[in-house]
Amino acid sequence: MTQASHDWWRNAVIYQVYIRSFADGTGDGEGDIAGLRNRLPYLHDLGVDALWINPWYPSPLNDGGYDVADFRDIDPRFGDLSQAKALLDEAHGLGLRILLDIVPNHSSWDHEWFKQALAAEPGSPERARYIFRDGRGPNGDEPPNNWRSVFGGSAWERITEPDGSPGQWYFHIFDVSQPDFDWSNPEVRAEFLDILRFWFDLGVDGFRIDVAHGMVKDMTKPDIPYDESGLLDRPKIADHPFFDRDGVHEIYRGWRELADSYDPPRLYVAEAWVEPPERLARYVRDDELHSAFNFDYLKAAWSASDLRRSIDESVTVLASVGAPATWVLENHDVERVVTRYGREVTAAGEGSSRIADGPVDERLGRHRARAAGLLMLALPGGAYIYQGQELGLPEVLDLPEDALQDPVWERSGRTRRGRDGCRVPLPWTIDGPSYGFGSDGSWLPQPDGWGALSVEAAEADPGSMLHLYRTALRMRRDIPAAEPVDWIQVDNPDVLAFRRGTGFVCVVNLGAQPVALPDHRQVLLLSGELTEDGMLPTDTTAWLAT
Ligand code: NOJ
Repeated sequence: MTQASHDWWRNAVIYQVYIRSFADGTGDGEGDIAGLRNRLPYLHDLGVDALWINPWYPSPLNDGGYDVADFRDIDPRFGDLSQAKALLDEAHGLGLRILLDIVPNHSSWDHEWFKQALAAEPGSPERARYIFRDGRGPNGDEPPNNWRSVFGGSAWERITEPDGSPGQWYFHIFDVSQPDFDWSNPEVRAEFLDILRFWFDLGVDGFRIDVAHGMVKDMTKPDIPYDESGLLDRPKIADHPFFDRDGVHEIYRGWRELADSYDPPRLYVAEAWVEPPERLARYVRDDELHSAFNFDYLKAAWSASDLRRSIDESVTVLASVGAPATWVLENHDVERVVTRYGREVTAAGEGSSRIADGPVDERLGRHRARAAGLLMLALPGGAYIYQGQELGLPEVLDLPEDALQDPVWERSGRTRRGRDGCRVPLPWTIDGPSYGFGSDGSWLPQPDGWGALSVEAAEADPGSMLHLYRTALRMRRDIPAAEPVDWIQVDNPDVLAFRRGTGFVCVVNLGAQPVALPDHRQVLLLSGELTEDGMLPTDTTAWLAT
């Protein structure tokens, strides 16, 4: 392979497959590898470069598979290793690369190591793979400190010792069923290098790293203030005891060496909710991870000034370490963009579940989502598309309470509904059982009328979001990848206009009034129609050839 093809990721569009909700090939109501294999031609035709598949490992699915019971196998609900191999071969045959999701911060409580830890004595090597501590108070019946779980409640859970007595406490940043590993233990480090090797040897092209800013902790830190509404105020706590600690970078240097020892080299993408962008850049230094999701951009409000600020900051800060920017509007943890941009208030919030509240105008949201899609795909660097984003699926806000599966719902004392609303199984057909998702129902209920947003309906409508994404992804290949964003001066603060090289211009009107298009030879693509007199209306993006 040439050097350039090793750098494919610098400009790649990566499609996120939330496997449980993508396509059900076995008819049990849950998506799986069989379903994904059937739909590979759809993804190839869409024009993406790679897929990132959310965790498919054996798991009780208490946190959608981010609670892994065995890192070297596949949950029978999703398939098996031979099917995974077939998927890799078929995807590669279509020119699609495959990234998996590695979850190094924690395991499931069903993991063999955790079972061994529970059966062993305090102070044993089995306990030392996780973070066990004695409790506070005379009988040790208070947690070792006041640290909170990201999903709500204490980050500590007490166990019963093998002899039946009340015992030690273990630490979990997320759900109680997700005990954190102790990354100061060399055995844990060696184990994960071996897990990476296992999948790389199978032919996997890279990994998205879950909670890449976790893993390394300073358990000697004292109690910290927290916000009762739920999340720890992560970035605002300086020297946070369990997020974004400097020690994590040494781990990634070792991981990078491993990835580079393969031909072709393998890739890592960091999921790191850190601020400010300078902290994120540290993860993508040239001997660490390759790229990182740009959550600053995801959280930006639908406003010209905020988007421009985020674009400029991201590009500049990442360029300082030689890394490309990435652009992301959706994933399985945040509200769908049609809904988010359909709210009056689009202001940013935290990274988990809802970003804002207030009534939603889906028609408006979809209109803006089209414009946002074209803006994102016109920017230099990599881009991510979350399954269903190309169909304009909204967040399902009214899932019945008894259907909710996200642990956030219970752990927040039923105050936060969690992230199920963006995980509702995809509609593939206008009618039929589970709208073509599978042959028999779907693990989360799909709303009535979901079929109107299906792939089948979108195929038949030349003006659909799907056709827009397909065309944009095709045309994007002609935008000179190496050309940076070169802002065009327009005397309207609500308009974003930039050039990439000499021949391509992108203009977005975020203001209330239509605006004239800059000089151009040809309109290449529009997210919505021009006015009768050829002006660019509100919330509309144009790609122009100049
Ligand atoms: C981030 C993942 O995207 C999210 O879905 C999960 O709940 C947490 N990490 C914990 O693994």
